[in-house]
Amino acid sequence: MEYLNINKEAWDKRTKVHVDSKFYDVESFKDGKSSLNTIELEQVGNVQGKSMLHLQCHFGQDTLSWARKGARVTGVDLSTEAIAQAIKLNSALELNASFIANDIYHFGDENTQLFDIVFTSYGVLCWLPDLDLWAKTIASSLIAGGEFHLVEFHAFNDLLCGYSYFPQIEPDIEEEGTYTENCDGTKSKVATWAHTLSEVINALIVAGLSIEHFKEYPYSPYNCFEGLEHVEGKGYQILHKGQQVPLLYSIKARKIS
Ligand SMILES: C[S@@+](CC[C@H](N)C(=O)[O-])C[C@H]1O[C@@H](n2cnc3c(N)ncnc32)[C@H](O)[C@@H]1O
Repeated sequence: MEYLNINKEAWDKRTKVHVDSKFYDVESFKDGKSSLNTIELEQVGNVQGKSMLHLQCHFGQDTLSWARKGARVTGVDLSTEAIAQAIKLNSALELNASFIANDIYHFGDENTQLFDIVFTSYGVLCWLPDLDLWAKTIASSLIAGGEFHLVEFHAFNDLLCGYSYFPQIEPDIEEEGTYTENCDGTKSKVATWAHTLSEVINALIVAGLSIEHFKEYPYSPYNCFEGLEHVEGKGYQILHKGQQVPLLYSIKARKIS
């Protein structure tokens, strides 16, 4: 089976589990809780009245959190199940976000709209085989001077877990459960790719984006990996030989012209 179908099937299944999880806590979200974390809130800043494209939006909680902050936002995701849930949430909350079910590369080929901001976060790049094409999609979706914001899990931890740090031509094909606490052990086949930090940064530069901020973090807001310990007021950390492992990084880049 081709990788897009493998991953779509996995994310359709995962979404059904995620919407009922404490991890995503849809009830609190409906009651007004934002799903966004301090890192992206501080990095992206004021989005009032801005047009925003959210790539790999899953079932839309972050997309709708940006909409609650005044952005005119469009979410794109491969999973039709995730997009169906996002559209349901959008109607239930009477927000006006738009959602598109598509692979980001096909979306990039078809899209003609330009956005002030492109945003994507937490667990997105490993699903993509080609970061040059990813960065081209971002650049071609931005107005001149528009901003790109990424907050992503750091590949350093994947390396410590036994995965390749350096890119491989063939994807890693594995049977995996999901990361929410209500996962009953059911596994789905997933296809993922390793990407180095330099690959991410160079893809953005080659696509014509100027990098304005790059930062690494020892804490994650999410309890979604093995070996994490909670540190009050900070988030989750992993210690390797007594030292903190980099768990996240963030990039802000601007389309030059
Ligand atoms: C870990 S989730 C993103 C996390 C998101 N920040 C959240 O928790 O709400 C990864 C998402 O990427 C989507 N995805 C995977 N491959 C994709 C592709 N080629 N194009 C678009 N979306 C894709 C999946 O369907 C999934 O919803």
